[in-house]
Amino acid sequence: MNRADFPVLVNHPKLVYLDSANTTLKPKAVIDAVHTYYADCGANIGRATYRLAEQATSAYDAARHQTAQFIGAAPDEIIFTHSTTYALNQAAWGLRSTLKSGDIILLSDHEHNSNIIVWQQLAAQTGARLAYLSDQPPLKNVKILAFTLASNITGQIFDHSKLISDLKKTGAIIVIDAAQAISKMPLNAAQLGADLLAFSAHKLYAPSGVGVLYANLETQARLTPLVYGSQTFAAISRQNTQLLSNFERFEAGTPNIEGALGLAAALKYLNQISMAKVQAHDQALVTYALSQLQKYRLDQYLVGRPRCQVGVLSLNHPRIHPHDFALFLDNANIAVRAGKACSDILMQKLGLGRGVVRLSFGLYTTKSDIDKFIAGYRKTMERLDG
Ligand SMILES: Cc1ncc(COP(=O)(O)O)c(C=O)c1O
Repeated sequence: MNRADFPVLVNHPKLVYLDSANTTLKPKAVIDAVHTYYADCGANIGRATYRLAEQATSAYDAARHQTAQFIGAAPDEIIFTHSTTYALNQAAWGLRSTLKSGDIILLSDHEHNSNIIVWQQLAAQTGARLAYLSDQPPLKNVKILAFTLASNITGQIFDHSKLISDLKKTGAIIVIDAAQAISKMPLNAAQLGADLLAFSAHKLYAPSGVGVLYANLETQARLTPLVYGSQTFAAISRQNTQLLSNFERFEAGTPNIEGALGLAAALKYLNQISMAKVQAHDQALVTYALSQLQKYRLDQYLVGRPRCQVGVLSLNHPRIHPHDFALFLDNANIAVRAGKACSDILMQKLGLGRGVVRLSFGLYTTKSDIDKFIAGYRKTMERLDG
C-alpha cells in the first residue's frame, strides 16, 4: 500500500516504522480532515444554532454513523470516548451496580494492563472475584467476560465463541477489547457476541484522544455513566437531573470533535482500500516475516506460535536486553517497541521479566521493512552476543 499517503514516511524516507500496534501513522486525508475542521469550521457541536455549528454537528453525527457502519452496528450503539482505556473504564464502572460479592469477572491470560487494572479495582469495590481463563472457574458465577480479540504481544486472534455462547445463556456480559483487532480485519461487534466492545482511533490511522465504546441497547440500559455534565440530560432542576435514555448520557461535555472527524476520514480511507484487502496485506506480511525469521533461525526467539494471528510479533533473546535491541535498531532508523508492552501479567506468566522486542505492521509496512528489521536484529546479535 501507499507510503506516499503518510506524511511522516515522506518526511522520514529512511524510517522503518514497525510500531503500529502502539500507534498507527496517519494518512494525509486524516490530517487534512483535522485541519479542515479548524480552518473551515471551528464551531462546537450540539449547542449553537448558527450555520457553522450546524455544520460541525452534522459532521460529528456522520462520524458516528460511519463508525457504527464500520463494525456493523447502529449509530445509537456508539459511545465516543477518549481511548480504549477510557472505554473499558466506562464499561467496567458502568456495570458496577450489576455486580455483587461472589460474582466472577473473567479475563483471558493475554490482556493488556488496561483490560486488567480497572477490573481489579471494580472487583475490590464490589466484592466480586477476578479470575483468568487458565483458572477454569465455575462458569455459573461468571457475570462478565472481558478479553482481547487479538494479542498485542503475539498477535494471536482469540476465538472464544463457544465460551461466549455458553456464558450468554447465563446472562453474563461480554466485553471485547478490539484495540489491536480493529485495524486488521473486518469486524462485526454483534456477530462476535460483544455486548460491549472498545477500541482507539489512534490505532486505526486516526487521531489520538478518541475512543469508541460499542454498547448494544440492552447493555446500555444497564450501564451507568462514568462522567456527568452538559449535553446529557432531558430535564434539570436545582436538586435533580433526569438523564437522557440514549448514548448521549455517556458523552458529557465538549467531545474531541476534530478527532472524531479525523476518525471518519480514516474509516473512509480504509473503506476505499477495503478491510478485506487490509487484512490480506497484513496476513501476507505475517507469512513473509515468519518465513524470514525461520530462514535466519530467529524463529527460536518468537514468543508464542499462534495458528491464527494479526501482524504483531514478539521476540525474546535469552541474553540481549530488548532495550539494547531497540537502541541498535533505532540507530538504523528502525522503530520497534521494547519491554513489557503494557502486558505485565502475560510477561510474568511467560517468565519474560525484561519483556520482548515487538514488531508490528501497518498499511504502509513492506517486505523490505521486514528485511531491514531482520538484518538489524542479526547485526545487533553479532555485536552483542558474538
Ligand atoms: C489490546 C490493547 N488493549 C488496550 C490498549 C489501550 O489502548 P489505549 O492506550 O489507546 O487506551 C492497547 C494499547 O496498546 C492494546 O494493545
